[in-house]
Amino acid sequence: MINLTIDGKKYQAEEGQTVLEVAHRHGIFIPTLCVDEAVSAYGACRLCMVEIDRKGRKKLVASCLYQVEEGLVVTTQNDRITNIRKTVIELLLARCPQSEGVQTMAKKLGVNGTRFESEKPENLCTLCALCTRVCSEVVGKSAISLVSRGTGREVALPYYEDKTDCIACGSCAYICPTGAIKMKDGNGVRTITWPNCEVSFKLRRCAKCGAE
Ligand code: FES
Repeated sequence: MINLTIDGKKYQAEEGQTVLEVAHRHGIFIPTLCVDEAVSAYGACRLCMVEIDRKGRKKLVASCLYQVEEGLVVTTQNDRITNIRKTVIELLLARCPQSEGVQTMAKKLGVNGTRFESEKPENLCTLCALCTRVCSEVVGKSAISLVSRGTGREVALPYYEDKTDCIACGSCAYICPTGAIKMKDGNGVRTITWPNCEVSFKLRRCAKCGAE
């Protein structure tokens, strides 16, 4: 077992656990918008930043990625951390002003608005990459990926190709925390809509019950 301190209290953790896992297991609040236990951590949203102290040297780390170490001292709340989280959520509010998930988290963090301008107010995608991770890690496909760079970064078919590996399972729509990915069944067709493209599949009927 590994001994560590979080916010002045001593805890034990298993090797390989992340600081976030240990904190959440003990009911310590650390905000997150890009983790799900179904997939590996990716460190996209940066809301989970905490301060660690290793032999007197303090630094900020993403707690969803940082693994526990013997003697680690973690602080989950102080002015520095609060300011970072508030700035991050303001940036996300500017990126996705209509996302309920982002708005709810902003309220939790005491943020009522953003200083930053919104380029695409209709955008719902926070680039959390839960959809691309579930597709590759759980479904075993790579039907979608994060493509392009900077402000043009988005979820799309890899290399913007016009053919797809999608099997119409809908896992991406299910795991998407903001409603940016939509799935609709109707008239024997399933349509999955990603932020910048759409695919449709003919549904088969179950020979026994007739369900699509
Ligand atoms: Fe750690 Fe999003 S939860 S970066």
